[in-house]
Amino acid sequence: MKKNEVNVTPWEVSGEIDYDKLIKKFGVSKIDDKLLNRIKKHTKDLHLMLRRNIFFAHRDLNWLLDEYEKGNKFFLYTGRSPSGPIHLGHLGTWIFTKWLQDKFDVELYFQFPDDEKFLFKKNLSYEEVQKYTYENMLDVIALGFDPKKTHFLINTKHANILYPEAIKVAKKITYSVVKAAFGFNDSKNIGEIFYTSMQAAPVMVPGTLKNNKKIPCLIPLAVDQDPHFRVARDVYPKLGYPKPAIIHSVFMPPLTGISGKMSSSNESKAILTTDSPKEVEMKIKKYAFSGGKDTLEEHRKKGGNPDIDISFQYLKFLFEPDDKKLQKIYDDYKSGKLLSSELKQILIEKINSFLKEHQKKRELAKKQIDNFLFK
Ligand code: TYM
Repeated sequence: MKKNEVNVTPWEVSGEIDYDKLIKKFGVSKIDDKLLNRIKKHTKDLHLMLRRNIFFAHRDLNWLLDEYEKGNKFFLYTGRSPSGPIHLGHLGTWIFTKWLQDKFDVELYFQFPDDEKFLFKKNLSYEEVQKYTYENMLDVIALGFDPKKTHFLINTKHANILYPEAIKVAKKITYSVVKAAFGFNDSKNIGEIFYTSMQAAPVMVPGTLKNNKKIPCLIPLAVDQDPHFRVARDVYPKLGYPKPAIIHSVFMPPLTGISGKMSSSNESKAILTTDSPKEVEMKIKKYAFSGGKDTLEEHRKKGGNPDIDISFQYLKFLFEPDDKKLQKIYDDYKSGKLLSSELKQILIEKINSFLKEHQKKRELAKKQIDNFLFK
């Protein structure tokens, strides 16, 4: 790969992503106003991640709504591959998933593939993955999903349900398709080659359990996960299932700048759900890339650039739900009225008050895991 080249796969995201180009490259559709209005007919209001184009693309969402309007309710499917702590970027996807669950009153299948990162990361042990599976489940539960309608599937624990579906998918995907989709070379272990079929399997689980293959599925994800489903979507109809619809979000950027994605592998790049107020403050003050000017005088005169300012971007992504307030922050920063240090302070307070509640709910979640495990 050339330097500065954009790369978006389930295991690597690098470069400055042009999402319009990605839409073409991945063959997905942009979410336009017409589709937003159609969603709004059912949900009454629009989640901020829809209003602000953070969920920006889709596959077959119109079809999903056609089915819904005919009375054929869908289920949601998403997941988390345990390999480390949860960061704010992950949470955005799931907060939006919960909104969909509440608005459409639908079931959610949530996969924890505790095989994936074990297979893909050289130095990650099976035992560590088990520890993170537990920790990561607490974060998901803390977001308030309805336990009656939410089913956790852990790949090694629910292999009896998932494996029969995975082998049906695997039989219809050749090694050359996987190689082309993910750029694999011959040094890949055989678990990695098989993995996509495990991620594909939950799409088929409700159909098999309810003996009705026609139940539609909607998968919220950030766009890095799309390649798995691009491969699998060709297979489902061959097995009698409809292709799942997908709704894609952009990445919450790392603290250090707007290119790439937030990832928990480097403390200077991510805010974790377990961070203390002091850690949040330190990370934002020290690492959050600023679109402000170098000196106070210059900033007051020329103003800052909110479009590349990480603190503004995080407010937009999740932490300032009020559009009017967000616009005022945008304008004040651009005019130089609001300083970079003041903008950072707004974000620090928002994140810390969110995390205070989240961490309380995360503690309570320890008693709830059993209610969420698929039975
Ligand atoms: P994982 O564990 O890497 O990430 C979990 C979910 O979070 C999204 N995500 C982000 N969203 C916004 N900004 C970011 N910086 C960011 N980083 C990660 C991911 O796209 C994902 O939706 N193989 C999957 C786990 C999985 C899954 C699924 C995901 C299993 N089945 C079905 C989506 C749908 C994984 O490694 O995700």
